Amino acid sequence: MCGIVGYIGAREAQDILIDGLKRLEYRGYDSCGIAVLSPDGQIIVSKKEGRISNLEAELRDEHLPGTIGIGHTRWATHGKPSDENAHPHGDSSGATVLIQNGTVENYNELKEALRLKGHSFLSETDTEVLAHLVEDEFDNGAATLIEATRAALKRVRGAYALCILHEKEPDRLVAARSGAPLLLGVGDGEYFVSSDAASIIPYTRRVLYLNDEELLEITRDGFTKTNLDGAPLESTISEVTWSAEEAEKGGYETFMLKEIFEQPAALRRTLSSVIDPKTGELCVEGKPLTAELLRSLTDISIVSCGTALHAGMVGTYVHTDWASEFRYRRPKLNPRRMVLAISQSGETYDTLGSIRVAKEAGAPVLGIINVRESTIARESDHVLYTQAGPEIGVASTKAYTSQIAVMYAFTLYLARVRGEISDDDYEAFMRELLAVPDVIERVLADVEPIKQVAERVYDARSSFYLGRGFNFPSALEGALKNKEISYMHCEGYAAGEMKHGPIALIQARFPVFAICTKGSTYEKMVTNIEQVGARNGYIVAIATEGDDHIKTISDEVITVPEVREELSPLVNAIPLQLLAYYIARIRGCDIDKPRNLAKSVTVE
Ligand code: AGP
Repeated sequence: MCGIVGYIGAREAQDILIDGLKRLEYRGYDSCGIAVLSPDGQIIVSKKEGRISNLEAELRDEHLPGTIGIGHTRWATHGKPSDENAHPHGDSSGATVLIQNGTVENYNELKEALRLKGHSFLSETDTEVLAHLVEDEFDNGAATLIEATRAALKRVRGAYALCILHEKEPDRLVAARSGAPLLLGVGDGEYFVSSDAASIIPYTRRVLYLNDEELLEITRDGFTKTNLDGAPLESTISEVTWSAEEAEKGGYETFMLKEIFEQPAALRRTLSSVIDPKTGELCVEGKPLTAELLRSLTDISIVSCGTALHAGMVGTYVHTDWASEFRYRRPKLNPRRMVLAISQSGETYDTLGSIRVAKEAGAPVLGIINVRESTIARESDHVLYTQAGPEIGVASTKAYTSQIAVMYAFTLYLARVRGEISDDDYEAFMRELLAVPDVIERVLADVEPIKQVAERVYDARSSFYLGRGFNFPSALEGALKNKEISYMHCEGYAAGEMKHGPIALIQARFPVFAICTKGSTYEKMVTNIEQVGARNGYIVAIATEGDDHIKTISDEVITVPEVREELSPLVNAIPLQLLAYYIARIRGCDIDKPRNLAKSVTVE
């Protein structure tokens, strides 16, 4: 959700903090701030409502001296975006100053107890309560910042990743996590605390990923890792594999457009990494995924959120569950019912919660994850990584198609070890799957027709997306992409559902995006399109090249090359993504940072 950074070293902290926040801005962008501990031991705080650029403007003529500091970019949970509610937050005297990503669920109760002790608060946030809690622990006799922090966190319910400065300990930072992601970048005599690797790779690739209920005390000479009881813990340093350039726009106007055009390469990388071309074996990380285990399975539940859920729905028509519902539905789980978690960030709190429910019940967990070493990846028994590279645009695109590709590779492998597909069918399907990146390249070679359709529908208030079978999830995904970046009210439906109610909304010029590429439900889709046409809806058909009939019953037709039906969601995703993109562009929306959204949802 929010993005947090911290720095301690020999360099001036201000610019490193601001640069780090800019690289994390996709995590939340409604307000921001930094705090730097000056050489004379004072903590100076500067914070602003709005984007990092607002804070930069504020600091243009001012430099906060100091080589230790913290910074935050916010996605509001408690209290509207404002200068007061922006982080960092301090205690009564400003001696303890901290930033947080997460939610303190019992903050009201804690706040009341502190009020009774004479504490008063400047903001509506849960985070400010944490700063006063640390102060209260000092009042209760804690001798050091790390001690006070441990005691304070034992009183907290909820998810947090935080970083703290204290005037009395000007040579150190304290950081802690439970439920929200946090890592430490290890430099030469300098250290970088961050919510994810994006903000640290310009400085170092050596990182330490924190697990839940772990704390760090960091000085210029090193760091110690302990648990909430103060017991020392081992530290394993990992290496980040992707480059800073990969996290740049590379000449594209937005990250989303770049990521749409990166899909052929992302799919080739993903497909060549998930199935060993020599042995045909699945390249699983974590515990081995044995054929014996796969044969013993009676069922698979897919848990994920948003776009990742739509990828799950395309992959295989088994149980797909909204992770936010699954974990509270007390699902019947056992070691023979696998739970498959799909996530780009690997940090989505609802999906993380669902795999913890699964693990408690002894169900094997397979993660299909894009961000290496993310929490869901580390907590899954088995991991299949998508190789989409860093996805910065909030609207997921290349991760979506890579997730579907992995779903297919896994499903084919599963069918083969269970003897449910012949070798010939397996080989044929795999050959066509491996050819999909070339097909997508052909679609991306000419986006003009899609741009022109966008120019004719961009001003609609609402629209529908229709699909059947494998392309029902495509309809859901097309609607999600458009609504989340252009703010057009879009709903995706299984086309057969229209006549049971939604068709009441159809009227002249009402856009209906119909996914009707060749396949077993083609004729049914044609019927549904005609039902919409009969009510003057404005039909934009996504159809197979050479399909002349569709032209006679639609207002607009966007064609794609023919592929086997099961693989068509991979190809159909491209015009759906681009339609949303160009509609949002004409509407002047901030495509990479849509309002009210964030790239990784680490709260419930
Ligand atoms: C998709 O464009 C959205 N950003 C959102 O729905 C996203 O797919 C969802 O939050 C899941 O994120 P994850 O894949 O990182 O778990």
